[in-house]
Amino acid sequence: MPLALGTQPARSLRGVVQVPGDKSISHRALLFGAIAEGTTRITGLLPAEDPLSTAACLRAMGVTISAIEAGQLVSVEGVGLDGLREPEDVLDCGNSGTTMRLMLGLLAGRAGRHFVLTGDGSLRRRPMQRVGGPLAQMGAQISGRSGGNLAPLAIQGQQLRGATIRTPVASAQVKSALVLAALTATGDTTVIEPVQSRDHSERMLRAFGAQLSVGGPGMTEVTVTPGASLRGQDVIVPGDISSAAFWLVAGAITPGADLTVQNVGLNPSRTGVLDVLEQMGARIELLNGREVAGEPVGDLRVTHGPLQAFTIGAELIPRLVDEIPVLAVAACYAEGISRVSGAEELRVKETDRLAVMARQLGAMGARIEEFADGLTVQGGLALHGAEVDSETDHRVAMSLAVAAQVAHGPTQLHRPEAAAVSYPGFWEDLERLQA
Ligand code: S3P
Repeated sequence: MPLALGTQPARSLRGVVQVPGDKSISHRALLFGAIAEGTTRITGLLPAEDPLSTAACLRAMGVTISAIEAGQLVSVEGVGLDGLREPEDVLDCGNSGTTMRLMLGLLAGRAGRHFVLTGDGSLRRRPMQRVGGPLAQMGAQISGRSGGNLAPLAIQGQQLRGATIRTPVASAQVKSALVLAALTATGDTTVIEPVQSRDHSERMLRAFGAQLSVGGPGMTEVTVTPGASLRGQDVIVPGDISSAAFWLVAGAITPGADLTVQNVGLNPSRTGVLDVLEQMGARIELLNGREVAGEPVGDLRVTHGPLQAFTIGAELIPRLVDEIPVLAVAACYAEGISRVSGAEELRVKETDRLAVMARQLGAMGARIEEFADGLTVQGGLALHGAEVDSETDHRVAMSLAVAAQVAHGPTQLHRPEAAAVSYPGFWEDLERLQA
């Protein structure tokens, strides 16, 4: 059943919202807790499908993790760096690229054990050689369809050796996989990225006791010295800025809107969306800035106002890679032509997000031109309601909901349930903020 969106007459958005926990930090807290010694207690863990996939894989390898429910503290009983058991069955990573890629790095070094990773239809189409290739340089044995690029993937665990690896794409999933593999390799490993990607793994692993240094031009080089054991920690997960982005754009484009998003993680490797909204002239205020468990956090208040077109180039992409779909919606309501380039990575996300956003917003009357590595969006053309489809992508579902909020006339959104991958309460929050 498609979801009916776009109330007539249109209602504004007002009030306070707490977005759920950061997805990247949630995966890492579970994974690092699993291979630490002692108990890790996680406050604010994202209770959504993607982290549940990570937890299910870890449980299948003998890790005890308490129930993951909204508002509940989650405890992870660590099994130590080499304590993961060989699972009796295939490990299902669901829709989660982070789960599969980080698991590859984590499991490649578990000598003498065999693992098979699979996922849903979307994940089985996503490139994994970007992790398997560099891991092979460390001695990993991973095989799969399409020359090892596509899941299902089989891992025959090996004693890995340290290496210096230059990754061709800035990807925190690739970097984190290599860092995890490096923890039990023989000798140091250095990972060098073209541009720094999000650094949650580096921050959190250091807090767990790993020996890890970050340096190089633009902090693009991470060096891990193996040997240190990890100790269970108390982790506080801030709200996900990638989820907050839907409300920031919705507030900026909806006449009369006044929204406050509380407790948003503001790690500088994630805040590109704020830079772009500032470039657009959006009215966003940072309130109550503070630091929580090694990550900067604050509340963001957004009110409606006129917007200018933006330009986003390759250097900025890693800091807002997941926010391009909703920024494409913002661009429809800005004055002028917005441009995104250097964003070819979007084609290998949960869906080809450049094609899907051009197609779905196009159905609502947007004028979007698609290029191999980006988009241009003509601003100032009012969108109209239409029949649209998330194409199973959580961020597309929520971006289209934001578009439907200001479009003229009703919208029917097919496959809205995709939102549960990262933000299960999104539809309730939307209804509440419209009230
Ligand atoms: C993530 C990294 C990003 C991002 C994804 C989560 C992570 O992917 O798109 O949603 O948690 O490391 P890449 O590593 O492919 O850039």
